[in-house]
Amino acid sequence: MWLSQVVDIYRTDLTTKPKAYMTLGPGLTKYNVLTAPDNHLHRTRRQLVGQALTDRSLRAFEPTMIKQIDIFIRNALSSAQRSQYFNITEEARRLGLDIAGLLSFGYDLRLQTDEQHRFMPTMLTAGTFWSSVFLQYPNARKFRFGLIAVQAFRKLHEPYLSLMQKMISSHMAEEKEAKHDLFSHIAHAFSVDVESDGLRDSDLWSEANLFLTAAGDTVKTSISAVFFYLSRNADPYQKLADEIRTTFQNGSEINGQTIAGCQYLRACVDEALRMSPPAAGILWREQASETRGQPLIVDGHVIPEGTVIGVNIYSLHHNEEYFPDSFTYRPERWVEELDPEVKKRMREAFIPFSIGPRGCAGKSMAYLETCLVIAKSLWYFDFEAAPGSLGRVGEGQPGMELGRERKEEFQLYDTFTSMHEGPYLKFQPRGNYWKDLAKNE
Ligand code: HEM
Repeated sequence: MWLSQVVDIYRTDLTTKPKAYMTLGPGLTKYNVLTAPDNHLHRTRRQLVGQALTDRSLRAFEPTMIKQIDIFIRNALSSAQRSQYFNITEEARRLGLDIAGLLSFGYDLRLQTDEQHRFMPTMLTAGTFWSSVFLQYPNARKFRFGLIAVQAFRKLHEPYLSLMQKMISSHMAEEKEAKHDLFSHIAHAFSVDVESDGLRDSDLWSEANLFLTAAGDTVKTSISAVFFYLSRNADPYQKLADEIRTTFQNGSEINGQTIAGCQYLRACVDEALRMSPPAAGILWREQASETRGQPLIVDGHVIPEGTVIGVNIYSLHHNEEYFPDSFTYRPERWVEELDPEVKKRMREAFIPFSIGPRGCAGKSMAYLETCLVIAKSLWYFDFEAAPGSLGRVGEGQPGMELGRERKEEFQLYDTFTSMHEGPYLKFQPRGNYWKDLAKNE
């Protein structure tokens, strides 16, 4: 039942995004690849932004990504040397946005090492929170909620807009061929004077803003969730540590090509994405206007025109029919021998990146970034949850699993993407491997 709903709603051109998607992205006035209700416009934009995310583009970008991940690892080392606990949500958010800034504009935001632009993650968290309120209840914009949001935003919004403008204009000043980022691929498609007031109302602006959030605000959740579950599940932790430590001889060998063979690593990431999907809620759809007049049938039911429909990703990922013992972190389910039909249904029910023509364009990049962070962390360190109440930050609320024996789940708050806290971890360097990090600096 559930699977036919997923296919009928998402793997089709008969549906599209409802107009309320326009509320995603603070102050955007133009549709972009994520929000476009017109499927034709969507296809054109998808081809355009997709150029920055092909396998070839990703290979060219990978050394830049690895440099940023090495900064994350060095920050973990410095927290260990100072006997501090490392707050993964905070550090992964900075890492994600630093990588997204470089991928989008070739601009180094330096959030991981410098405080200057750290208002940006705060602004994006507030922005996605309010955008998701407006997505569920668009009329809220017209009433008092909107006013509260605008006031809370005002202080951060203008510096954020100025920084975006600076990122765009500094890119435009460079040679077109100089970089492999999104802008090098798409800027020529939009004619806009970046120094003019029109920039903030342009298609280019809308795509650039979306890209920064899509790439920067999602991977923090996959990274945090994997760390959370590994720090609480000794067997998967040990099995993964063994895989990483026997596959590589040296931390600098860890790259996109070499981690591709680490099957258990991928299983640990998939299991975290299943239990704590970064876009955990319902991705709303409605019938595409160009197909009105044809019946839209979902799981045998005719859906009246104008009705918004969708499947909740978190619920699907916890459906016992597809994922038995669904509140337990068990990466083995992804690698063990199973009846082929059972395995196929489980795979089909796993949709953290959604599916169909509007599915995530950055899936390969998300896996690459998450897997590299986890592999490098386990190469250089052992880690465990901080002691006492700090170590419990990020755990789900007791009693939320409707009478089941309580198991710890990484708590997400649905804001279209996700808000979360922790885990706070204690990192312990492994032997002298950390000395390589100084050499690679
Ligand atoms: C773990 C990380 C990620 C997750 C779970 C994720 C999930 C998703 C989901 C569920 C959608 C569909 C949204 C909808 O239907 O409204 C989406 C769309 C999209 N994502 Fe991701 N994403 C991740 C990382 C990334 C990264 C790193 C990029 C890189 C730029 C990216 C770029 C995009 C784009 C451009 C779209 C719009 C695609 C379209 O409408 O054609 N995502 N993502």
